[in-house]
Amino acid sequence: MTTTSPLTSAQSDLIAGLPPSFRWGVATSAYQIEGAVHEDGRTASIWDTFCRVPGAVANGETGDVACDHYHRMPQDVALIQDLGVDTYRFSVAWPRVQPGGRGPANPAGLAFYDRLVDELLGRGVDPWVTLYHWDLPQELEDAGGWPARDTAYRFTDYAMLVFDQLSDRVRSWTTLNEPWCSAMLGYAYGAHAPGRRDFTAAMHAVHHLLLGHGLATQRMRAAATRPVELGITLNMGTAVAQTDSELDRAAARRADGLGTRIYLDPLRYGRYPSDVLTDLAARGVELPVRPGDLEIISAPFDLLGVNYYSSHVFSGVDDNGRAEDADGNPVERAVPRGLPTTAMDWEIFPQGLTDLLVRISRDYPGLPIVITESGAAFDDRPDETGFVRDDDRTAYLATHIAAVATARQAGADVRGYFAWSLLDNFEWAYGYDKRFGIVRVDYDTQARVPKQSALWYGDTARRVRSGVSE
Ligand code: FCB
Repeated sequence: MTTTSPLTSAQSDLIAGLPPSFRWGVATSAYQIEGAVHEDGRTASIWDTFCRVPGAVANGETGDVACDHYHRMPQDVALIQDLGVDTYRFSVAWPRVQPGGRGPANPAGLAFYDRLVDELLGRGVDPWVTLYHWDLPQELEDAGGWPARDTAYRFTDYAMLVFDQLSDRVRSWTTLNEPWCSAMLGYAYGAHAPGRRDFTAAMHAVHHLLLGHGLATQRMRAAATRPVELGITLNMGTAVAQTDSELDRAAARRADGLGTRIYLDPLRYGRYPSDVLTDLAARGVELPVRPGDLEIISAPFDLLGVNYYSSHVFSGVDDNGRAEDADGNPVERAVPRGLPTTAMDWEIFPQGLTDLLVRISRDYPGLPIVITESGAAFDDRPDETGFVRDDDRTAYLATHIAAVATARQAGADVRGYFAWSLLDNFEWAYGYDKRFGIVRVDYDTQARVPKQSALWYGDTARRVRSGVSE
């Protein structure tokens, strides 16, 4: 089901009331758009491997070609400039820059990002680098992956190769994109690369991802010769109990514990939440924390990236009223609210974004926030010219930007909004069927056609930036 709910005038006023300094961006990630997986010395990442596992990705699709951005980068940057946004958030492919995940930089790999940054700056667009958006070099997975402690140190060395090259021109740095997805989808649920199903391994991955973030943050901070903004991006939503029953409330608490607090508590307060540690102990899992780790993980950072798509209501019992699953673990069942959904079947719930931002500001105060991803896949229907009149996506963006403005009025320090995504692209295990772009990509010709949502978004960004309301 899709929605085409129009913007109310109250929502338009909210958006028009955002300050001229508010950042308007578009986001992508390396494996989802670059293609050119064998070029200029790039080696395989866990996603190259995972895509070859039968049944792992819809239609057996891969990122081998994707949007061919590696070869079309200057045109894509021109497109970003034409849209009228001010920031481009992209990720650097670790196996391009440091093939195999160890040793010196690969000059040809670094050169691509060097050119990208120069191209962006030349066109007045601010570059925003994400160092890790899920493409771990396969060799490091073979050596244990994120459940192994050494990967945190390997990540830090890689981060410095990029930082040393680009920090003379790049101010905004994100260490990790969505460590929840790396750990849970990758190591517990097997839905993402590397496709493991081992809860203990996933929890070890959480700690080592956070350790990698902290180590890299400390080293980048020490090496910076110009002002930089360092941060991490988490995917979050609100977790609400379906009823007031003890089982439902415990399910919501656990979901929030493993979704949000297991990241933000150590990052901000240098400790893991005690209820989460108790829950893990009940499952026989201990986090592999060594003395000093939590000081590293809680190294000060400047900015929290929030990726928001939906929020969930939780029940502590399954469809048959049972409170334990087959493995004897307590049930956490996401219960639909009955709201309209996107093509991902994700419920559209902008109020959850307001609630989330207000909650983060309350529980983790003093941390400026940028929405580093927000957007929606819909079943686009291009006309004969390739143009997509995506009122559904436009409404999604507008209502979520209005939700950000509402959170700001309630005191949340949110400084920008980046649409996911610039282009239709390789949507991980869903392949190319799910289109998140505000620009359509015709995968046969690689033609790019801005959708209605892109026109609306760029126009809105321009107007707000210049202080001109409707
Ligand atoms: C986020 C990812 C991004 C994209 C969107 C839809 O979890 O960071 O790469 O897949 O979801």
